[in-house]
Amino acid sequence: MTKLEMLRAEWPHIGLKFLGVGHALPSAGAVPNTYMERLVDTSDEWIVSRTGIKERYFCAEQTNIELAQAAAEEAMSRAGIKPEQVGVCLVATFTPDRMSPSLACMLQERLGLPQDSVMFDLNAACAGFLYGLQTARQLLLTAEPTRPYALVLGSETPSRVMDFTDRNTCVLFGDAAAAAVVELSEEKPYLAICGSRTDNENMLYCSGLADQQQGRPGGVVHMQGQEVFRFAVDIIPHSIEQVLARANLQLADIDHVVCHQANNRIISHVVKKMHAAPEQFFINLQHYGNTSSASIPLALNDMWEQGLLKPGQRIICVGFGAGFTWGACLLTW
Ligand SMILES: CC(C)(COP(=O)(O)OP(=O)(O)OC[C@H]1O[C@@H](n2cnc3c(N)ncnc32)[C@H](O)[C@@H]1OP(=O)(O)O)[C@@H](O)C(=O)NCCC(=O)NCCS
Repeated sequence: MTKLEMLRAEWPHIGLKFLGVGHALPSAGAVPNTYMERLVDTSDEWIVSRTGIKERYFCAEQTNIELAQAAAEEAMSRAGIKPEQVGVCLVATFTPDRMSPSLACMLQERLGLPQDSVMFDLNAACAGFLYGLQTARQLLLTAEPTRPYALVLGSETPSRVMDFTDRNTCVLFGDAAAAAVVELSEEKPYLAICGSRTDNENMLYCSGLADQQQGRPGGVVHMQGQEVFRFAVDIIPHSIEQVLARANLQLADIDHVVCHQANNRIISHVVKKMHAAPEQFFINLQHYGNTSSASIPLALNDMWEQGLLKPGQRIICVGFGAGFTWGACLLTW
């Protein structure tokens, strides 16, 4: 066996240990559906029955980096690690404050992270946190031994790219950041899949520079809801089954399933399709709406705060988003 073949053979046995999770919400407070009724032709009844969302948070003066910093500080403090021990800092986001520098670079300065560690943002839309975990796991292998920890965030301010006259989108999203501190571990099995395909790049997108060049506004989310719904209820069970097959496990062996928190009806469809127990699937979207890449770590944070996560439990996280992108992981708490 060559060294490379040996490395590849050993790699699946290197897992991830979660040392701490943290979160941050806009300080302006929760925005109920009744407030959205004042902006667009909608109703609390429509939003709750079609999505399950009751409230969400929007930043007023706060920026994405402020949420990211607060979430990272909470996760690092709960993990009991110091900034100089961070070898990798990745922020999943599609709503950075600036196109450049990245939120990760801004965090480096604000948190006092080492200057010669790896820091960058990645954009895999709502699947971003799962892409971030998988990327961090690979980068940690080559991190300095004195910096064995990765700080992985999902940090989003979708309110900055919402058309608040479009009832099809503006009632769905909310701002939030959430973070996890992880390290490589042989005791905490972890496996993940990530994927992407583009059937039609206009199904779900946030306009940008090319749009501006062609005279359209940049920075606005557009969505064909039903198409996205169809994609979601197909890819989530598929991804869960793929992860279970690779781990040689059944759904009944899993303690919690954490889906990207976009819509209650999507999760109900998945539960039904997989003949699963509804209580296996954690849901907190009623409080936050769809917080894009922050939704999965925010769910893990809430579960941890509620005492639902016990050492050794098996958790499947599964996300999907614009691209389309998707990802799923089986992690061990
Ligand atoms: C967006 C979504 C909630 C819409 O629900 P739906 O049951 O598919 O509703 P439709 O799109 O068929 O619209 C039905 C009607 O409700 C209307 N409607 C849309 N948004 C509305 C709102 N906020 N309030 C009231 N009515 C609304 C539509 O205009 C349409 O009216 P019409 O029949 O007169 O044309 C649903 O498609 C969805 O959740 N899709 C997935 C979105 C998602 O997950 N995105 C994020 C991916 S990361």
